[in-house]
Amino acid sequence: MQIATATENTRIGLNIQLDRAKTLRERNRLGQFATPPKLALDIVDLGKTLLPEERKIHFLDPAFGTGAFYSALLQRFPQEQILSATGYEIDHHYGNGAIQLWCETDLKLEIADFTQIPSPTKAQVNLLLCNPPYARHHHLSREQKQRLQQATIQHTGIKLSGLAGLHCHFLCLTDAWMQEGGLAVWLMPSGFMDVNYGQPIKDYLINRTTLLRIHRFDPTEVQFEDALVSSAVLCFKKAIPPTGHTVCFSEGGSLTFPLRSRQVCLAELRTTPKWTQLGVTSNHSQPPEKKSRQKAAVNAQDTLVDGLIPENLTQPKNCSLKLSDLFTIKRGLATGANHFFILTPEQISQHQLPAAFLQPILPSPRYLQVNEITADAEGNPQIERQLYLLNCTLPEEDLPEQYPHLWHYLQQGKAQGIHTRYLCRHRSPWYTQEKRPPAPLLCTYMGRTSRHRESPFRLLLNHSRATAPNVYLMLYPKPHMASVTQEHPEILKTLWQAFARISPQEFITEGRVYGGGLYKLEPKELGNARLPAFINSLFSWDSVLSH
Ligand SMILES: C[S@@+](CC[C@H](N)C(=O)[O-])C[C@H]1O[C@@H](n2cnc3c(N)ncnc32)[C@H](O)[C@@H]1O
Repeated sequence: MQIATATENTRIGLNIQLDRAKTLRERNRLGQFATPPKLALDIVDLGKTLLPEERKIHFLDPAFGTGAFYSALLQRFPQEQILSATGYEIDHHYGNGAIQLWCETDLKLEIADFTQIPSPTKAQVNLLLCNPPYARHHHLSREQKQRLQQATIQHTGIKLSGLAGLHCHFLCLTDAWMQEGGLAVWLMPSGFMDVNYGQPIKDYLINRTTLLRIHRFDPTEVQFEDALVSSAVLCFKKAIPPTGHTVCFSEGGSLTFPLRSRQVCLAELRTTPKWTQLGVTSNHSQPPEKKSRQKAAVNAQDTLVDGLIPENLTQPKNCSLKLSDLFTIKRGLATGANHFFILTPEQISQHQLPAAFLQPILPSPRYLQVNEITADAEGNPQIERQLYLLNCTLPEEDLPEQYPHLWHYLQQGKAQGIHTRYLCRHRSPWYTQEKRPPAPLLCTYMGRTSRHRESPFRLLLNHSRATAPNVYLMLYPKPHMASVTQEHPEILKTLWQAFARISPQEFITEGRVYGGGLYKLEPKELGNARLPAFINSLFSWDSVLSH
């Protein structure tokens, strides 16, 4: 993925160079305004939270340009997860540069007019990301309009008015490419939400897709430096919406951290002619009577996106969930003498310590290269620095006979005075440890902000049976949440990804800052951190919160 970042820098340079070689009028005609790299990453991140974890990806960008989305995809997904990637670009000017840039990847990029490509016989795409050309209808000739209208009717049965721009036809035409259940994220001018010619598109979104999210950027903050367009991100799954389905409408801020959001039910969408006037004024969910109707109607097989959270968890109670709503947070364990109680495999074999009293424990975060800790068949973390915690509850007098090697090791500890240390002295027996079962989610307890203003804290997803020392905070699902995660372990991953998007500001205001920009976070402070509002469109929390 590092290579992908390097290639992205080259792509950005190439795009600037190619843009400069054209006049603004020429670029306007074909809607040649590239997606800002950060927004492309946000869009891919949104897609990532909605796709099942291991889902192999068949990607399409029908208006490829130099490949802002493809590049973001490669930065966010391992290459082996991307089974196919297809792009279309009408203009050689951008297309040739892109073909050269991506020649060492498996991308199939065709220089062609996407609207004239026959639909595939078998719909294969399950991730479509597109910033379509925004060519308004008066840039289209009468012949072009007729051809587009016919193609759209023929492929999708949708009749678009002559006032619809090229981007509207793009959206409809891709329907035939999308696999059932596939996910599409579009960066669109937000006009279609309000104008008459947008109605067939809104009907399509309401009736033939499961519309998941519409985020409108603040119209005063244009997304493209060189195009005055107010934009929206539109995210849907190709599937008939489940009963009681609601859509997350968000506004302002960024896609990842919107300023406002609201769940809107389809009935409200049907009766609201202008979707930009839905009144996304605060983070409130819908009125209670709608909630209860949904509760009654939900069906265990309804999912937002395959593999994601089942709808039978009903609707969100409040739009700014705190971590402590879902998790009990505890400091990792303090042994009182790490050098004595935390051992390497070599030390264990040297002292012949019995496996029954050893549990894997995570090393300091600086030894962890990754934030997702996988496990081997025995539940040991697959990390370079393997460590084990010595923990025994048996009384000391039982040990010489039953576990002579352990007893001998403890005697060595006593000779060093370990048993008289404060924490050991207050435990009985002195070598027993606090109860800290493995936690599925962990957060580092202290950290520094980087120059890129990233969060000073790391959030880890732990699949192993390793416990953790007190340089971590351990997040244990609250009882009802635990039963939900047991049934649907994939929730944890989605949550973890959502955690990673918690604004650094949330942590920084909660945690305490020490000299040299060092931040520390106590369990209660972490518990107060709010999850980004967008996750309300992914999860339904009432049943978890009501316990
Ligand atoms: C808004 S740009 C998006 C480029 C790139 N995907 C991105 O997000 O930065 C739209 C691209 O679609 C291309 N385009 C315009 N009409 C097209 C068509 N009929 N078929 C394929 N590509 C087209 C333009 O040349 C332009 O590169």
